[in-house]
Amino acid sequence: MKFIKSLAMLSTLLSFAVAGTFVDDSEIGLRKISVKDENSVTLRDVNYSAQPAGLSTRFDRAFENAPPMIPHDLDGLLPITTELNMCTTCHLPEFANDVGSTPVPKSHLVDLRSGEDNEGVLDGSRYNCVQCHTPQAKVNIAIQNNFKPEFFYKDGNSSSNLMDILNEGVK
Ligand code: HEC
Ligand code: HEC
Repeated sequence: MKFIKSLAMLSTLLSFAVAGTFVDDSEIGLRKISVKDENSVTLRDVNYSAQPAGLSTRFDRAFENAPPMIPHDLDGLLPITTELNMCTTCHLPEFANDVGSTPVPKSHLVDLRSGEDNEGVLDGSRYNCVQCHTPQAKVNIAIQNNFKPEFFYKDGNSSSNLMDILNEGVK
């Protein structure tokens, strides 16, 4: 009896010792709460650019021919629907000069599947701008990103030339 009791005590002690080597699941994630807990998940209040279009400052491109991020406020410009796409009213080449915006590049006026030039008309595959272009926000990032872009082409940090180089090395 005494032997069984001390055996039970020993196993309790052992399990404590083993448990001590485990990492608690609230220590694994970046949120520092249980990774199984979805109830206390809150979205961070991110600080998107509040400057209206025309008054904002363009961001540098993340890498060569990356879709530029949207530097201006999107209030009143979304959602993009089949009937209304506010983005086109300022970014199509015919309006861009007057409003001081960057016109959509050549790649957006071409059917990339057939290679056919749309003669200045926006390709359907480019209609939903925010599928690729997203607003930039100031956030405290949890993990530092050490990526540093290298720009091969002149002004690659502020302009794109995808259509001119797309077939480089292919033809
Ligand atoms: C009222 C005109 C206007 C509207 C509408 C508008 N923009 Fe802009 N956009 C601008 C101007 C002007 C700039 C240049 C920065 C500035 O002056 O604020 C710009 C800059 C940008 C840039 C950065 C370009 C670069 O060279 O880095 C992107 C991307 C962009 N807009 C995307 C959009 C998208 C997507 C929409 C629709 C959701 C949109 N814009 C709606 C006027 C507009
Ligand atoms: C399928 C993804 C995609 C969609 C949709 C898209 N873009 Fe782009 N956009 C890009 C990429 C990638 C680039 C940079 C490479 C290039 O020149 O094509 C770019 C470049 C641009 C530039 C910079 C042009 C320059 O000369 O530097 C502007 C402005 C722009 N897009 C506006 C828009 C607007 C406005 C829409 C919607 C009408 C739109 N884009 C839809 C991917 C997209």
